[in-house]
Amino acid sequence: MAGDPDILVDFIVPANSTVNATDGCFFTFTGMRNAINPDYPSNFTVTKASVKEFPALDGQSVSYAFLEYPAGSINPPHTHPRSAELLLVVGGTLNVGFVDTTNKLYNQTLKLGDIFLFPKGMVHYQSNDDPKQPAAAIAAFGSANAGTVSVPMSVFTSGIDDNILAKAFKTDVSTIMKLKAGLAPKA
Ligand SMILES: *[C@@H]1O[C@H](CO)[C@@H](O)[C@H](O)[C@H]1NC(C)=O
Ligand SMILES: *[C@@H]1O[C@H](CO)[C@@H](O)[C@H](O)[C@H]1NC(C)=O
Ligand SMILES: *[C@@H]1O[C@H](CO)[C@@H](O)[C@H](O)[C@H]1NC(C)=O
Ligand SMILES: *[C@@H]1O[C@H](CO)[C@@H](O)[C@H](O)[C@H]1NC(C)=O
Repeated sequence: MAGDPDILVDFIVPANSTVNATDGCFFTFTGMRNAINPDYPSNFTVTKASVKEFPALDGQSVSYAFLEYPAGSINPPHTHPRSAELLLVVGGTLNVGFVDTTNKLYNQTLKLGDIFLFPKGMVHYQSNDDPKQPAAAIAAFGSANAGTVSVPMSVFTSGIDDNILAKAFKTDVSTIMKLKAGLAPKA
């Protein structure tokens, strides 16, 4: 589906909901409490509040993600097929960019408090190039389930034949195998 449906009711409570929707609890998500604290994780981390984690969002066309970038870490190139993204920097600085359908790059260095728009479906990334300071950002989406397609993962870990990838990237199979090995889950 290309976009979120318009619903004809105020809100949707799943039939099997364990939360009673007669008060505010159903409309409350507490899953960010542990993420939004002064401690940064040692790896780039995304904490989502989309319809999967927060069922009350069903049919409401909104969601959030909280992103934490340790010094020197990146959020690799990816797309959200069902929504634009508004990124608000709440800690540190970030270098960001997206690529449009003509392959033009639009990049920017964001400071604390800056907001950047990633248009719907465009490949984009964020990078914390500071060697010492961590960074954090809040991403808002116009979909309850924006979806994420990671460029490295979808291309190199989905099972597309090595020969096809070698031709597509105008390289040899051993280079493709090296790239795949680097993305394989660590044992
Ligand atoms: C309710 O059902 C959906 C769809 O089958 C499932 O994904 C979800 O986990 C269920 N929720 C609960 C609280 O059992
Ligand atoms: C939900 O809460 C209301 C008011 O407290 C109560 O009357 C109702 O039985 C509860 N429903 C469920 C499914 O727990
Ligand atoms: C987290 O980062 C550490 C140090 O940079 C690395 O060794 C480890 O593999 C990373 N863990 C994950 C789950 O990516
Ligand atoms: C955008 O990217 C180019 C090429 O990598 C770089 O030279 C430039 O400094 C970047 N601009 C910003 C504002 O980050």
